[in-house]
Amino acid sequence: MTPTVCHAQNPVGASLLAKADFLSPHIHNLPAIVGKPAFATDNAQFFHQRTEAPPRLRSKEKTMKDTIRQLIQQAITQLVNEGVLPEGLSPAIQVENSRDKKNGDFASNIAMMLAKPAGMKPRDLAEKIIAALPADENVTKAEIAGPGFLNFFQNTQALASRLDAALADEHIGVRKAGPAQRTVVDLSAPNLAKEMHVGHLRSTIIGDGVARVLEFLGDDVIRQNHVGDWGTQFGMLMAYLQENPITSDELSDLENFYRAAKQRFDESAEFADRARGLVVKLQAGDAECLALWTKFKDISLSHCQKIYELLNVKLTMADVMGESAYNDDLINVVNDLKAAGLLVESNGAQCVFLDEFKNADGDPLPVIIVKADGGYLYATTDLAAVRYRSGKLKADRALYFVDQRQALHFQQVFAVAHKAGFVTHPMQMEHMGFGTMNGADGRPFKTRDGGTVKLIDLLTEAQDRAYTLVKEKNPELAEAELRNIAKVVGIGAVKYADLSKHRTSDYSFNFDLMLNFEGNTAPYLLYAYTRVAGVFRKLGKDFSEVEGQIVLEAAHEHELATKLAQFGEVLNNVSDKGTPHILCTYLYDVAGLFSSFYENCPILSAETPAQMQSRLRLAALTGRTLKQGLELLGLETLERM
Ligand code: ARG
Repeated sequence: MTPTVCHAQNPVGASLLAKADFLSPHIHNLPAIVGKPAFATDNAQFFHQRTEAPPRLRSKEKTMKDTIRQLIQQAITQLVNEGVLPEGLSPAIQVENSRDKKNGDFASNIAMMLAKPAGMKPRDLAEKIIAALPADENVTKAEIAGPGFLNFFQNTQALASRLDAALADEHIGVRKAGPAQRTVVDLSAPNLAKEMHVGHLRSTIIGDGVARVLEFLGDDVIRQNHVGDWGTQFGMLMAYLQENPITSDELSDLENFYRAAKQRFDESAEFADRARGLVVKLQAGDAECLALWTKFKDISLSHCQKIYELLNVKLTMADVMGESAYNDDLINVVNDLKAAGLLVESNGAQCVFLDEFKNADGDPLPVIIVKADGGYLYATTDLAAVRYRSGKLKADRALYFVDQRQALHFQQVFAVAHKAGFVTHPMQMEHMGFGTMNGADGRPFKTRDGGTVKLIDLLTEAQDRAYTLVKEKNPELAEAELRNIAKVVGIGAVKYADLSKHRTSDYSFNFDLMLNFEGNTAPYLLYAYTRVAGVFRKLGKDFSEVEGQIVLEAAHEHELATKLAQFGEVLNNVSDKGTPHILCTYLYDVAGLFSSFYENCPILSAETPAQMQSRLRLAALTGRTLKQGLELLGLETLERM
């Protein structure tokens, strides 16, 4: 069967249609100028002059789960030696947190997993495992439950010491479970012709949240803002900029600028021709065109930068590694694919066909590398980016925070890159896709008249609404403080609402829900933090000024302590899966448990000084965990509100 190029069946082609909405459905659509345009790579290409990843070993500090896994492993080895279990078993030992304290603190289903190979009933095997468990000071007892679960009860004293150690540690006792890695985080990446709109919010804040967690765990994180800064739409903008020489201050509204340019383009054939001509000249490296393009790009990026600052997102100009940065390398990508025997001509286009990608009729789907007219595509640039990230940056892992609708594109890019040998330094690539942001009605988020919502407008409204709410609650606050609280609460609410949902689901944007002071929201958590901070303010102390040691007596203390001890595990989970909502749920649980603890276990009127110190220590650890957790989500905190 002859493979054919068919754009319509390729969802990525479809998403590109949405991207560049004039002149062409594709970004690199004009004939490639072979040769060396000297301009394209003098920007970010060399910002990251790093070579080897920092060698860091697996931390020696074990979590409770590690301890229990090891105990089980030792018991299994002993049972193998005794002939109770067959040799050659290497089960993945799973240990979970118990939901109900009555069942202990941790549970494992290992006896159920091994019952079959052992030829035993799960409960009988569970009994043998328990008998073979070595003694450990961290565990007080192990019991069989239900069909053959093993329940472990941790030693309260050991838990308290663990928390005391966390309190003394700058990193709150948190370590990465595996070796530190160099990780590329591909995030935000708006197309520069227009202003950032709501579609860019998720990639920006979810990507930033995960990047922060990775950094906290000790990874060497390289943020890459793969902005769409190349393509035919820039011809129109350059032509308009040429006619209307404006400064960046004057060009405050990119959206209007785009609209005006588009109007000129549609109205005037002469203008349209000039725009097209400028693109050709730009691609050939013409100095004047380059200057115009650079100017437009700078203005557009400074718009993005303002949004990043308002959003409290850690992105700077140095993280920009846009599509244009790879221009020089695209011809090499093509040549190398050719040399690897992967390029096939189909209807004049140069494509790669891989067996794993077929359409509904079973026909192979192409990855188009060079179009019939010589233009390059989105995939071509992404292949160059893979090479750069692996070969030059020597990343061990690359996480792509991009709309779920581009899933096929990334599967194809990753597969082609591997086939072509572009992944020279072993690098694991993961598409961290996310769902669409909808309005409260469940339909795609739009302005009242159906237009795209500018991010800046959305963020301004969030702050205004927060202002009204906070003023209602605290009319006596000074204006400047009110404004600051409104900013932290408003921006935090928008971010948290997004971060707290599983990233792969679509999500409904709803101001009323996200600004609610009850429920799993930013205002609730920010307020919970101020309560902890308030305890210390009353005493004139900060979180580090706590003496004595933690002693866990009341059930509420024990529950809060157990949760606090899970911070590291939660962060490691976020790092593995790229899902900040796990951290949100955790912080929400911590806040809830603190609240019960606070109501049931008086701190300032505790029965003894030792009890007061212990409770203060628990409060300090709660405060630090909440503050650190919120910071990792990219939320600022307030001392009072
Ligand atoms: N600019 C693209 C868009 O708006 C996202 C780029 C994501 N990153 C990448 N390496 N393709 O759809």
